[in-house]
Amino acid sequence: MSTIEKLTARQVWDSRGWPTVEVDVHLNSGAYGRGIAPAGASRGMHEAVELRDGGAAICGKGVLKAVAGVMQEIAPALKGKSVFDQALIDKTMIELDGTPNRSRLGGNALVATSMAVLHAAAAETRLPLWKYLAGENAVRLPLPQIQIFGGGAHASRRIDIQDLMVIATGAKSFAQALMMTGEVYHAAGKIMEERGHLQGVADEGGWWPVFDNNEQALDTLVRAIERAGYTPGQDVAIALDIAASEFGKDGRYKLALESVEYDSHGLCELLLRWIDRYPIVSIEDPLAEDDAAGMIAFTKAAGHLVQIVGDDYLVTNAKRVATAAEQKACNAVLLKPNQAGTITETQEALKAAQAAGFGAIVSARSGETEDVTIVHLATGWNAGQLKVGSFCRSERMAKWNEAIRIEEQALPFTVASSVLRG
Ligand code: PGA
Ligand code: ZN
Repeated sequence: MSTIEKLTARQVWDSRGWPTVEVDVHLNSGAYGRGIAPAGASRGMHEAVELRDGGAAICGKGVLKAVAGVMQEIAPALKGKSVFDQALIDKTMIELDGTPNRSRLGGNALVATSMAVLHAAAAETRLPLWKYLAGENAVRLPLPQIQIFGGGAHASRRIDIQDLMVIATGAKSFAQALMMTGEVYHAAGKIMEERGHLQGVADEGGWWPVFDNNEQALDTLVRAIERAGYTPGQDVAIALDIAASEFGKDGRYKLALESVEYDSHGLCELLLRWIDRYPIVSIEDPLAEDDAAGMIAFTKAAGHLVQIVGDDYLVTNAKRVATAAEQKACNAVLLKPNQAGTITETQEALKAAQAAGFGAIVSARSGETEDVTIVHLATGWNAGQLKVGSFCRSERMAKWNEAIRIEEQALPFTVASSVLRG
C-alpha cells in the first residue's frame, strides 16, 4: 500500500512577493510530492476563495491560517489514504472544508495539497508526472500562448486589455515555438526601447504597456512579429485575454485608456473589427462574467473565426462548461487548478470541455512560483494548449523549460492547425 504518512505545510513566497501555501506530502514508502498554490489578480467571482490572514502584517496577505488548516485538519483526514485515490482525497478535503467556495480551509490550502498528492503518486510509480497522468494514452506537448505585453490588472490598468499574446502557429515543435516567441518578445522590447517606452515588465513578465490606446498595442505586436522576421497570421498569430470582467459590469464596459464606454453590443463590434484587422486566433473573456447574453452573441458572430475562451466566465467548473456548451457562449475553456480548488475538479472541467468539443488551455496565474505542475497536466491530460504568461522571469521560464525537458522524451507537439479554427 502506498499510503499518505505525513503532510508538511509552510508559508513561502510567490512571484509578486506575497505569501503563498506550500505543501509536502510524504508516503510510508519514503516517496514524497510538493505543491505550491498560485494566486490570481483578476479573479472570477465564482472561483475558489483564497484564505488570507488579514491584520497588519504583510498587508493582511499572510497564509498562516491556511497552513495551520493543512497541518491540523487536512493532514489527519488524509493520513493512511492511498495516494493513488486522488478523487477520494480531493472529495475528503472538499467535505472537510464544507463551504461551496472553499472559504473555510482556503482554495490555496486545498490546491497545494491536491497537487502535492498528485506529485507523490507519480513519485511512487517512479514516472514523470505527465507520464503517470497519461497512462496508456498517446499525448502531445501543448501549443503555448505566450504573453508579449501585459496590461489590465497586471499593469496597474495602464491599458485595458490584459494579455497581448502570441501563438507560434507555424511551429513544428515546442522548442521551435519558444524560439520563435523569444524572437518576437525581444523584437517587441527593442521597439519599446527605440520609442523611449521601455519601462520594465508587468506581473507576468510581458513588457510594460506604454501605449496611447489599445489598438496601438495591437499594432506594435504586429510590428514585433514582422521585425522578428515572421509573417503575422501565418508563422505567428495573436491571442488576446480581454479579461472584460475587470472593466465591465451590468453590460457597460469602460475603456479607460480611450475614455469611451461601450454597451455589450458595442464591445462585440469593436472586437469584431479587431479580428478583421489583426491576425487574431484566440480571444479570452471577451465580455464580462455576468454577461452571458454578450458571450452568446459574440460566439455567434465570431465563434467560427476564432477560439473564444472562458476564464472568469467558466472558472474551471464542469457545470459552467456544460451550460456554456449548451448555450454556445464560448468554444474553449481555460483550466486553472486553483480556480476549481482541486486536481479532480480541474480534470472534471477538462472532461466537460472535451465532451462538448471545446478547446482547452491549462493556465498559470499572474502570481506564480517555481511549481511546474501545470505543464505536466497540460501534457499528461493532452489538453492541447498551455498559457503561462510571458517569456521572462523565472516563475514563467521554469514552466517553459520543463516543457523542453518533456519534449526531449520524444513526445509529438500539438500543431496550431489541429486545435485552432479560422
Ligand atoms: P490572474 O489572470 O491570474 O491574475 O487571475 C490570469 C488570466 O486572466 O488569465
Ligand atoms: Zn484570463
